[in-house]
This record gives sequence, C-alpha cells and structure tokens, in this order.
Amino acid sequence: MKIKLGKYELEKPVALAPMEDVTDLGFRLICKEFGADIVYTEFVSSEGLIRSARKSVNKLLTNEKERPVGIQIFGGDPNVMAEAAKIAEDSGPDFIDINAGCWVPKVASRGAGAGLLKDLKQMESIIRSVKNAVSIPVTLKTRLGWDSNSITIFEVAKICADAGLSALTIHARTRDQHHDGEANWDWIRRVKEVSELPIIGNGDIKIAEDAIEMFEYTKCDGVMVARGAISNPWIFKDIKFLMQHGTLPPAQTFQERIDTCLRHLEMEIELKGERRGLMEFRKYYHGYFHGIRNGSALRSKLVRLETLPEIKKAFSEWISSGQEFMENQSAQESLSPSSPSFSQV
Ligand SMILES: Cc1cc2nc3c(=O)[nH]c(=O)nc-3n(C[C@H](O)[C@H](O)[C@H](O)COP(=O)(O)O)c2cc1C
Repeated sequence: MKIKLGKYELEKPVALAPMEDVTDLGFRLICKEFGADIVYTEFVSSEGLIRSARKSVNKLLTNEKERPVGIQIFGGDPNVMAEAAKIAEDSGPDFIDINAGCWVPKVASRGAGAGLLKDLKQMESIIRSVKNAVSIPVTLKTRLGWDSNSITIFEVAKICADAGLSALTIHARTRDQHHDGEANWDWIRRVKEVSELPIIGNGDIKIAEDAIEMFEYTKCDGVMVARGAISNPWIFKDIKFLMQHGTLPPAQTFQERIDTCLRHLEMEIELKGERRGLMEFRKYYHGYFHGIRNGSALRSKLVRLETLPEIKKAFSEWISSGQEFMENQSAQESLSPSSPSFSQV
C-alpha cells in the first residue's frame, strides 16, 4: 500500500525517525540527501508551543528540500494538542505526527507520549482533536503497549484508522522496554495483516539488510530508522541501493566522509552559532568516522576542538599524515547503538 502524505504518494518509503536532540534540520537534510523519503522533527512539546517557548518554536523550522517532513508533537491534553497542531501546521510541514511512544517518565507519567497507551480513550480524543484542528495529514507513532501484559497495538491501529489518520508507525517494543531487548517484528506483521492503515515498521534496523528483512517479514508499507542513522547516516543510501540493485553501494571514501561531516557541521553552526553548533555536533562524529584506521583517535581529537578552522586543520593534518581509509572495513563494526551516548527518548 502506498503511503499518502498530502501530495506525496510513497511506495516503500524509508523514513528517518524523530529523535530528540538528533533530528534537527541539519541532520534531516543530510539524511534526506542520502535518500530518506520521509523525515520528522524532534518531538515538540504542545504545552511549549502554545506558550511560545523558544525551544519548542525553534524545532518547527523546516526546509523545502526535506519534504515531505512531519512535525511531531506530544502532550496529554486534547485541546492543547489541537492548538499546538495548528501552530505547527502554520509553519508549513507536510503532516503532523502525534507522539504516543515516548517512555521517559517526565513525559509518560504526565499522560503524554507512551502514557497515552494507558488511556486509549484519551488517546482517541487527542487523535480526533488534532485531526479536526488541521487540514494536513496526521499520523501517529507508538509502541506495542504499556508493557507485555497490555499489548494495545490492535486497538490503537483501529482508533487511528477510524479517525482517518494517514499512517501508523509501530516501534515494536513496549513502553517498559525503553530501547532495550529486541524489537518484536511479529506484532508489526500481525497488525499489518488486519489493518487498513498504512503501517511504518520501526525498531532495530541497524544495517541496510535489516530494512529489507523488515519489509519482507512484516509486509509493512514503510520502514523507519532511528539509531542506525546516527551510527551511519549513509544507511539510507545503502537501503535504497540494496532495494534497487540487490547489493550494497561502494563504501564512501574518507574524503566524502570529511566533506559530508563539514557540510553538516557548517549547517549546525549556521543554525546554532559556532560554540553551540560545535558542542552539539559532537554526537555525530562517530557516525561519520567509523570504519577508518585510528578512527577513535580522530574522533577524540575532534571532540576537543572548539572552532571550525581548528576542525578543518585537523582534517588536513589527518590526511597529510597519510592515514588511510580502509575501504573494505565493515560498516557494521561500529553500528552498535551503544557507541555514542544519547539520551534515549
Ligand atoms: C536519541 C533518541 C531520541 C529519540 N527521540 C524521539 C522522539 O523525539 N520522538 C519519537 O517518537 N521517538 C524518539 N525516539 C525513538 C526512535 O524514534 C525510535 O522509535 C527508536 O529508537 C527505535 O528505533 P531504532 O531501533 O531504529 O533506534 C528517540 C530515540 C533515540 C535513540
């Protein structure tokens, strides 16, 4: 089934997941360039939006080049969510995504995010309020249930379909699993068998082959990658190439890694200023410089530098010191999601 998001009709799309502190505009544009078909903002607080809190409003920034882009909002109050959805719509995204999966206690314990899995009536009310408030498509991203004793994904899928949502993303874990253990794709497959809604599968796509396997095993309509994209932003290119040609594309050269990293870094600096841009960029170095000889030495050097010219100089020195990119080294070597440290939402 194609996924329709306004004027976009997407067949087997590969989406970049919403990730707090990760999927800002700069990172989204890089992933888009590599082939991500759908991108999402970090989650935005509905309460923050209606109070015009700067942090929330800043997250609404999107760009023509990244379309279709969704703004993800979270909250536990139907009226506030409706108002926030309108504010988000006014900033020009292609769709609104409702977060019904965040396990973090300060969100879930207030009846937002995964907290909605404990109160499906309230979830339905939020879905309907948001849907009525905006004229662009609405989607929802959720988990299997609150815990293994309360799997609610079938009910949630029905609520979403009845309310006319455009797609449902299933992160195939329960709320109490956080990001631990394995995602259980069986549930995605089972929901797909009975639901009329387009289903986007999410959870544990770490390398390109996993995406193909998820499509084949679950028959889902789209797949979504989160931590695998932080570990390797080229994963979208790998997945698309594998889907088309049945093999992986040639590995990117060291120069390509440097060029992409610098382009991304420059975007972050433009968005956030040099100091904050550089500080917040540190989490991305791992993704750009895994699979190279002495890569960890390069990364430890980069994270200590405080200006863009210093970073550029470090790259030049690295190249002139004759450090060689190991083309055949498996990208999987560094795909452990545990490598960089992220707050896991
Ligand atoms: C650093 C980080 C931030 C996240 N932030 C969000 C978020 O803002 N909204 C959301 O719906 N999910 C968020 N998630 C969950 C991911 O979107 C995704 O559902 C989860 O990581 C499972 O996918 P994966 O196995 O591909 O990582 C976050 C995950 C991580 C690791």
